[in-house]
Formats: sequence, structure tokens, C-alpha cells
Amino acid sequence: MHQIILGIESSCDETAAAVMVDGKLRSNVVASQEIHAKWGGVVPELASRAHQEHIVPVVQEALALAGVRKEELGAVAFTRGPGLIGALLVGACFARSMAQALRIPLLAVDHVQAHIMAHFIDDGEERPRPSFPFLNLTVSGGHSQLVLVRSALDMEVIGSTLDDAAGEAFDKGAKAMGLPYPGGPLVDRYAQAGDPHRFILPKPAIEGLDLSFSGIKAAFVAQVERGERERPGFAQAERDNLCASLQAAIIDHLLAKVKRALKEHPVRDVGVAGGVAANSGLRHRLTQLGAQLGFGVFFPPFAYCTDNAAMIAEAGRHLLAANRFAPLDTVPVPRIH
Ligand code: KG4
Ligand code: ZN
Repeated sequence: MHQIILGIESSCDETAAAVMVDGKLRSNVVASQEIHAKWGGVVPELASRAHQEHIVPVVQEALALAGVRKEELGAVAFTRGPGLIGALLVGACFARSMAQALRIPLLAVDHVQAHIMAHFIDDGEERPRPSFPFLNLTVSGGHSQLVLVRSALDMEVIGSTLDDAAGEAFDKGAKAMGLPYPGGPLVDRYAQAGDPHRFILPKPAIEGLDLSFSGIKAAFVAQVERGERERPGFAQAERDNLCASLQAAIIDHLLAKVKRALKEHPVRDVGVAGGVAANSGLRHRLTQLGAQLGFGVFFPPFAYCTDNAAMIAEAGRHLLAANRFAPLDTVPVPRIH
């Protein structure tokens, strides 16, 4: 009999469902919520309502694309947290009801760990993957962590952001310049034509392996405001240089922490996960550092970097194999780490 898992993700502003058959990804559907763009960030109540509208059609589409009837499902995996509570509740209630109605195991997945499992999604394409144990830099709009990954079920967080996430630093910096949400991809694009040394931003002096982006963000916003006061139109005129300087400051901090983590935990491979893993500057500079210091660098394909349900199904697969089932009254948790 085939092992068929449905994955469901609803922690932030993406409603997603994926189907995995015998460990192979068969479908991966993501409905993004455009509604937030005009507010300059995710509005939690609007996110919950959009999840409610999207969840049934998204799950139906994932099943249809995979050619699977719901009666054939062997387990349902969902994001337990961290995330927005109202958003998480939609996925959790749906998954719980489905598990109960179909009498199949319920698998409660940690969203941040699932981002790391994105490295191992088998979609039929050959690509290099990190070997255990490895260091993972998990950088998204909601989380920034350094994680020592010993196996799919054994992960240790060795460093976390003390304030903003790396993606937030990109997004808030972009917002200060008048760019639309999410600003990360735009900063990436404009940075390519800019001078990263044009504006000097602080290097966060945080002990150990923890990260912090609020200093960079505050200095950047102050720079934009000062520039606009002195020379209206500054943010537009200096757009590329501002983006390049912001991106370089964020990457400098990330790379300094990766170097330090590898000194304390000498592993051979470094993985990157989360939406910011799409950043071309980070890809380029971390790959360079790996070549220089002799460690392997791994980025999942872009579709698995940003929020998706394939990673939830992949993480769920390991919970299922270990018989780690969740009770049907499992509640979502907005904060886990
Ligand atoms: O993983 P994700 O989809 O959602 C969370 O779990 O938070 O990450 C979204 C974040 C946003 O902050 C977005 O601006 C950022 O990833 N992002 C990027 C790029 N693409 C997405 N940041 C920098 N450069 C990019 N190319
Ligand atoms: Zn995420």
C-alpha cells in the first residue's frame, strides 16, 4: 500500500497544500494573499479570512493534481506553529477535522524545522543536498536562526534573532524607501546595480551566536529620512545604492555568525532555508565563503524556500515514520522557539 501524506501550511500569508506519495512530492499548491500589499505588511485578521476562503479549494487542487482521492490519504500534516494564531487555527482545524473524519494520523509540524526539511523534498529532480550533521541558516520574514541539524528529528537552535528577522529588515528597509511589501525581492534586484559601500551601516555587536537586525534597520531608516530632509527625492535617486548598502549590511552580519557557528560546531555543510535564501547576494557571498573555507553550501529551489506545504509534508513524513502522532485536540502555538 502506498503511503500518502497531505501537508497543510497556513502560518502567515500563504495558504498551501501538498501531497506526497511514498516520499515523493506529487503536488504543491500555494495561494498567496495579495490583499496585504496595500497595507505594507501582513494584516493578521485579513490573513485568517483569506485562509478560510482558500483552504478548501487549495486542498482540493493539491489532491486533484496528485491524482489522489481523500479516502486514499494515510496521514495529514499541518503547521502547528510558530505563526499568526488566527492563521494557524484555520489550517489546524481543517487538518484535525480531516484526520478525524478519515480516521488517519494527525502530524503536528514545527514550521521553522519544516523550512530546513525543504532541502530534502524529493520532486524527482537530482540535486546536491546537505549531509547530517549540518549547520542551517534559517532566514525568513518571521524567523532568523542558526540550527545544528543532526537528523530530521534532532535539531538544536544554537542562535536566534533577538529582535527582527532578516526578512523583516529587508522589508522594513524597503518600506522606508517607499517600496511595496514584501520589499526583500526588490531590494535584491536594485542592489545589483548599486554600490554596497555608498552608505555605512552599523555592524551589530551581539555576543555569541544570536543575531540582531534592529540596529541596521534603525540606522537605515534614519539615513533615508535624513537624506529626504536634506534632498527631497533622495530615496528614489539613491535607490540602488541604498538597497546595495542595506543588503550588504544584512549579509555581513549573517556571514559573521555562520563563520562563528562553524568555529564552535565544525560541520562540513551549511544549508540556507526560508524566503531570504532566495537573495542573490546571500547566495553569491555564502558560496564564495564556502569555497574559501572549505564547506559545502546548499540552497533549496526557490519554490521550497518561501512558505509552502511540501516542506510540511516532508517534515510530517519523518514524524509518521517515528510514530509521533498528534492528538486530535492539538492546538496551534503562535510561538515555539
Ligand atoms: O519564508 P517566507 O516566505 O515567509 C516566512 O516564513 O516569513 O519568507 C518571506 C520573506 C520576506 O521577508 C521577503 O521579503 C523575503 O523572504 N525575501 C527576500 C527575497 N525573496 C523573499 N529577501 C531578500 N531577497 C530576496 N530575493
Ligand atoms: Zn516560513
